[in-house]
Amino acid sequence: MTTIKTKVGIIGGGPSGLLLSQLLDLKGIDSVVLERKSREYVLSRIRAGVLEQGFTDLMREAGVGERMDREGEIHDGVVISDNGVEHRIDLKGLTGGDTVMVYGQTEVTRDLYDAREARGGKVIHDADNVQPHDLTTDAPYLTYEKDGETHRVDCDFIVGADGFHGVSRKSIPADQIREYEKVYPFGWLGILSETKPVNDELIYARSDRGFALCSLRSQVLSRYYVQVPLDDKVEDWSDERFWDELKARLPEDVAARLETGPSIEKSIAPLRSFVCEPMRYGNLFLAGDAAHIVPPTGAKGLNSAASDIYYLYHAMIAYYDEGDASGLDSYSETALRRVWKAQRFSWWMTSMLHQFPYHPEFEQKMQETELDYFLGSEAARITLAENYVGLPF
Ligand code: APR
Ligand code: PHB
Repeated sequence: MTTIKTKVGIIGGGPSGLLLSQLLDLKGIDSVVLERKSREYVLSRIRAGVLEQGFTDLMREAGVGERMDREGEIHDGVVISDNGVEHRIDLKGLTGGDTVMVYGQTEVTRDLYDAREARGGKVIHDADNVQPHDLTTDAPYLTYEKDGETHRVDCDFIVGADGFHGVSRKSIPADQIREYEKVYPFGWLGILSETKPVNDELIYARSDRGFALCSLRSQVLSRYYVQVPLDDKVEDWSDERFWDELKARLPEDVAARLETGPSIEKSIAPLRSFVCEPMRYGNLFLAGDAAHIVPPTGAKGLNSAASDIYYLYHAMIAYYDEGDASGLDSYSETALRRVWKAQRFSWWMTSMLHQFPYHPEFEQKMQETELDYFLGSEAARITLAENYVGLPF
């Protein structure tokens, strides 16, 4: 068995793990990232693409903002359409200058991999059977298998950044954590197509036929979604059926100018809210999807992961530079306060914009009134805008 020694052992080479390892490296703190899949596999996953300003600032601080600033699109507003009527939410005006950046998570991850490689960072791919050990001691360690051999990583801290299905949360004894979960009675069918986006800004569309979202990755790559019943299969949805349904849920003028084309990716994702408390067990710290999941309606998944990394990074700097462990001790509480606010926003956007099967009439009326109020009141629009661009860290 080979053993390597590092300060921080990170499980998971998604955006959370890579961003932390890059930020720590710039401050001279050594880490090792263990990723179960290949780099190509991680980069083939299609995920969301709206970055809060706090996240883009963190990317720049990590020295990986250059391509993002060049190729990403700054969006000053989003559109919410309610049964065919468009309402623009002026994010910039309502928040006193804040905006979001449209830049795909895949590109964020690619930039982080390139940066780790350029700095000689230790990112170990195809690491099988990663296991954390001795979490409640001062000498936790990781083991993993690669090329038929078992390897060991000794460290001060372990960070579980291995996503919702990872091993780190599962290695905490069940009586030490509490999990909160809500599963929604519908999913999102998404397609990617090499067509010009139908609108300069994202359109979140509520309609009697169900929710739809018009998003984009660039001026030649569009991302669209429609709400579908949970038991629908991708095979049920030809491209033609998808485009027809999307058009039926959009304002008429938008549907009329929608450019359609063959889908280059098509998938269905269920919608879930999930939080695990606390986000620490001994010297294991959970971050990102390993600790919490949101439905995609508020574009908060990746951004919530980034805020965990912000807190963890600052806590670790204080610990290594000044011997101050207070940030680590309060990490879970601090991170969770913001996590729950992103949960609230995502749940609220989801609840307000989707059609719920078996919704009692009163609930239906409340939903319609909620949206009517939010679109009509300046104070309420500010609330929506400040959450969408991201609450402060
Ligand atoms: N051992 C090693 N790596 C693992 C293991 C394991 N047992 N289990 C999972 N992984 C890896 C996955 O292959 C994945 O690359 O951990 C990584 C986790 O990455 P993500 O799921 O992307 O999670 P995270 O980095 O927290 O990113 C936040 O925000 O927009 C949302 O869900 C979206 O991925 C996004 C997330
Ligand atoms: C996306 O572009 O994939 C996307 C954008 C905004 C969301 C969800 C997904 O709220």
